[in-house]
Amino acid sequence: MRGIILSGGSATRLRPCTKVTSKQLLPIYNRPMIYYPLNTLIKAGIKEILIIVAPEKAGDYLNLLGSGKEFGVRFTYEIQDKPNGLAEAFIIGENFIDDENVCMILGDNIFEDDFTEDIKNFKKGAKVFAKSVNDPERFGVVEFDENNKAVSIEEKPKKPKSNFCVTGLYVYDNRVVDIAKNLKPSERGEVEITDVNNWYLERGELDVARVNGEWIDAGTFDSLLEAQILAKEKLQDKLII
Ligand code: G1P
Repeated sequence: MRGIILSGGSATRLRPCTKVTSKQLLPIYNRPMIYYPLNTLIKAGIKEILIIVAPEKAGDYLNLLGSGKEFGVRFTYEIQDKPNGLAEAFIIGENFIDDENVCMILGDNIFEDDFTEDIKNFKKGAKVFAKSVNDPERFGVVEFDENNKAVSIEEKPKKPKSNFCVTGLYVYDNRVVDIAKNLKPSERGEVEITDVNNWYLERGELDVARVNGEWIDAGTFDSLLEAQILAKEKLQDKLII
């Protein structure tokens, strides 16, 4: 299993804090934000990790994280020139992924849960992790039928069909590279991870698990503050880096 951390974007919502550095390097309590998703991957035994960053912030990542030796893993770096969508990570990462399966986590997603077993036991298809939230219209939203089976996923729907959103941790088999290459950009001009998930869903190959514990997408000042508190109160003993 290869790992990818997508840590691009310019985070204009967090200006001026993101004027000279990247959102995912801002402190969450006593660590830079990216340490939390990195911890999720490293804990799950992933040794080869691709870090995808915005061009103007790449030097900061190299200075902070280096080769990965310090963490017992190997880092590879790639540039995402523009925020063209989450699914672009699999196109940028094609050579890195090679013929392996891949687990991607977003650099601003902080989980209390441990996904080690899900990641280690993954064989084929796709697996995503859903969480009930109060503001589902901000996310990819999963609709479940009466048997708790996922029947649709919509990206940022105006009228969400449930409160369950797809969080920023995704596990795919190697077909994801070709799927991503064949996607057409959405109305917001991005190649959408939701379209990748729907590709697997339509074929009955998408497993939607539930997230236990808290999950924060730390992309706004309020969620950044919530993440600080979560990190201080509940995450310190779960971190291995
Ligand atoms: C992205 C995805 C969305 C997902 C979210 C999780 O949203 O497009 O489906 O629910 O990440 O953080 P974005 O960060 O592009 O708003």
